[in-house]
Amino acid sequence: MVVAMRRAAAALTQRRRDALHRTQKRCVSFVLGIETSCDDTGVAVVDSDGNVLSNVVSSQWELNAQWKGIVPALAARAHEENLPHVLDAAIQQSGLSSITDVSTIAVTSGPGLSPCLGVGLATAQRLAIDHQLDFLQINHLEAHVLVARLPTLALPSRPEFPFLVLLVSGGHCCLVLARGIGDYELLGNTLDDSVGEAYDKVARMLELTAENPGVHGGRLIEELAKRGDDKAFQFTEPMKHRPDCDFSYSGIKTAMLRELNTIPTLTNAIKADLCASFQRRAVDQLVTRTRRACQWGRDRVGSDLKHLVVCGGVASNQYLRARIEDAGRHEKLEVVFPPAKYCTDNGVMIAWAGVERYTLGMRSEPVGAKYRPRWPLQSLEPLV
Ligand code: KG4
Ligand code: ZN
Repeated sequence: MVVAMRRAAAALTQRRRDALHRTQKRCVSFVLGIETSCDDTGVAVVDSDGNVLSNVVSSQWELNAQWKGIVPALAARAHEENLPHVLDAAIQQSGLSSITDVSTIAVTSGPGLSPCLGVGLATAQRLAIDHQLDFLQINHLEAHVLVARLPTLALPSRPEFPFLVLLVSGGHCCLVLARGIGDYELLGNTLDDSVGEAYDKVARMLELTAENPGVHGGRLIEELAKRGDDKAFQFTEPMKHRPDCDFSYSGIKTAMLRELNTIPTLTNAIKADLCASFQRRAVDQLVTRTRRACQWGRDRVGSDLKHLVVCGGVASNQYLRARIEDAGRHEKLEVVFPPAKYCTDNGVMIAWAGVERYTLGMRSEPVGAKYRPRWPLQSLEPLV
């Protein structure tokens, strides 16, 4: 069994080497992406045609479960320990002989947790300076958006600018009109919690996270909700009548806490009903705001608007996908979801954002580069 696995791995590496040899002949360049903005250490190698040569992610599940959330200093220490191994694994998996085969290092430089960003940035700077590689500082949110344009995804059509974006993750919840690389108009943002944060907090309230420390809170709720009645509990849709594209998730979280205080014994069946009822309302809000943003987008760019990209960790949720697909059909927009493995934080999205920017002639200076814990998408400069 082990021998067979080794042979298969060797054959795969050989196939990668052959493919690499062919692409090197065509002068394709390779970008290494490093992601450490939160609790995932991700490194990937992507070529300039969008082929993913390697994608390695190490998550800090156990640490988060132990501390009931992310502790920035501990997360940074875990990145320090993990990054060298993740880096080695990504180079090895890619079939490249060493880091010097890479042309460019792309690194998440914000937004995110300062100590965590610092670990990835310092490593990327050192690699770029020591090996004289091109260097690019990448905005994490732009990377979530642009991964939907990776040419090698099996999508019916690739989103071309302008397109609408619903970005839903643990740290962010916003609607954006993407007009070009670096050219983003914020249509709506969360006024308090993000939807991913609400999923995580509810999972913790229902003690799902403690029982399954290796899985995102959102996924646990999604799984349990499949067995529940989504009308068993009457949560209200927050801000339903506010005529804008903003979000609010703190109310529904408080409503859940209030509901829990009235339940004497929390059985699995009740938990499933709570998950289903919470999820229905959480996604109702995404649908209402997204449909309004489609209208706002059309008001701005007319019939040029053809795609709605849904990205960020929460976009891996199948219930959300079905509901937003349906909204897209009503709005006559094609909905694009990156594959789930590229929705949660990863190095591929950083490397691909690097390829997009590199192709347009963008380079950053590694010496003295700084990270930006707050770095709104709409503050980027358009690249033409
Ligand atoms: O994009 P991401 O990996 O990190 C940030 O940039 O924040 O997103 C992580 C978030 C977490 O809140 C997690 O609970 C949520 O994505 N998530 C999900 C699912 N998988 C991950 N939420 C709902 N359903 C899922 N299947
Ligand atoms: Zn993210």
